[in-house]
Amino acid sequence: MKILVLTSGGDASGTNQFLFKLHKTFGKNLFACRYGFKGLIEGDICPFSEYNVAKLKNSAGSMIKSSRCPEFATEKSFKKGLKNAQKFDFVVILGGNGSHKGAQELANHGVKTIFVPMTIDNDVKGSDYSIGFHTAVKACCDYIHSTMPSMLSFDRCAVFEVMGRRHNAIALNVAKAVDCDYAILSKEDVNYDDMAKKVNKNKKESRATCIVVQENIVSLKELCHELSSKCPKVEVKGLIVGHIQRGSKPTRVELKFAKKFAKETIRAIKRGQSSAILCKEGQVRFK
Ligand code: F6P
Repeated sequence: MKILVLTSGGDASGTNQFLFKLHKTFGKNLFACRYGFKGLIEGDICPFSEYNVAKLKNSAGSMIKSSRCPEFATEKSFKKGLKNAQKFDFVVILGGNGSHKGAQELANHGVKTIFVPMTIDNDVKGSDYSIGFHTAVKACCDYIHSTMPSMLSFDRCAVFEVMGRRHNAIALNVAKAVDCDYAILSKEDVNYDDMAKKVNKNKKESRATCIVVQENIVSLKELCHELSSKCPKVEVKGLIVGHIQRGSKPTRVELKFAKKFAKETIRAIKRGQSSAILCKEGQVRFK
């Protein structure tokens, strides 16, 4: 039996542990498709044993590389990718919603496919967890906890922008976990008067202010500018938490989920089941 695995879209911590487990079970029957769907189109495929799997298993990122590949949706590229995918008995695809569509399309053309949610955004339709989410939230909390003592020394206001392209799961969980003063999780939350009231009150009480904002809702520069003008006695710092959300070492919880997803994938392959998407409680079907 020949199995192909690829990772697509934004990488997510915990992926390498998943790959390690797959390799441990399938050994020389496992093949890596480098750079996600781009590699599938180009036939950039190698035996998985070429990787130093054991050394990399607990590191962040994807050892087999990733890419964003919108051209997989075009007929010409899809046909090329399909041809390469058809050389394998199973194709395991890790990624977010875009990658799920690609996986589904391959399944529709008869390829036995397992889709594994892997994105820090935790927004994969049909699943309740995606590899990388827990680590991303923890990385944000660590960053905020390490920053606020310094903000407090000056009674400053820190605005932390966290990732989440179209979904506020990270911002919501971080806001709760750090017990921030103000959270911007949607456009409706952008209320400068409310924010300023909080910031000015904190200043009066010699306290710092912590604001968490999801990316793509409001420009961080604009937000800090508006707030500064309404709170002239307070220095407002806009801080982008950035790619430590993806590049941080997987948490223990993350490793647990990665192992669980690997176990379910292995079980599905051994049973010959395909078109599965994984969630915490096991598999659900594509359709
Ligand atoms: O898809 C995950 C994600 O981290 C989003 O939260 C974020 O908007 C995006 O990827 C950033 O992507 P890139 O690293 O390609 O700029």
